[in-house]
Amino acid sequence: KKIAIFASGTGTNFVALVQQLQHWRSDVSIELLIYDRKQAAVHQRSQELGVPSVYVNFTKYADKSQAETAMLQALKQRHIDLILLAGYMRIVGPTLLNAYQGHILNIHPALLPAFPGAHGIEDAFKAGVKVTGVTIHFIDAGVDSGPIIAQETVRIDPTDTLATLENRIHQIEHQLYPRVVKELITEGVV
Ligand code: GRF
Repeated sequence: KKIAIFASGTGTNFVALVQQLQHWRSDVSIELLIYDRKQAAVHQRSQELGVPSVYVNFTKYADKSQAETAMLQALKQRHIDLILLAGYMRIVGPTLLNAYQGHILNIHPALLPAFPGAHGIEDAFKAGVKVTGVTIHFIDAGVDSGPIIAQETVRIDPTDTLATLENRIHQIEHQLYPRVVKELITEGVV
């Protein structure tokens, strides 16, 4: 399995995935980071971990399909067969979706279909729900939609602040994502 990770931000999930998958099995390797924000901290992290990276400057392309065609080329060059979104702040378009049907996963910091979008943790916190969590799902053309693979719940306690909740959710994310990817590979699902 040759894996690529797409990310736009801090990259804590990127680090967790690399740390837990890179030396797991000799036939599984994280070959590439694709990132779309030049200053994203995830780039620095990929360099520290020795994972090759490609920066895609979306403003350079006429539209998303042209940017994704360039991404596809980088993916094909390295024979990537699985894509993991980890804080990638864009909707994946048909160019990549069609090429990697059933082979693109995403992690979302809420119990989908509740609280999709860019602020899943905060939206759940503000709504006053007592339970939220983390979801791993296959992507489709929507925002945080597509078949759900795994979920883990996180309780929101009366003493929680947004910061303490964020902390707990991220800790769960860093365990759940690598574990689910391992299970899917072991079972031959991806
Ligand atoms: C995570 O909370 C992930 O669930 C969401 O974006 C965040 C990315 O964080 N999709 P990081 O860049 O992995 O630290």
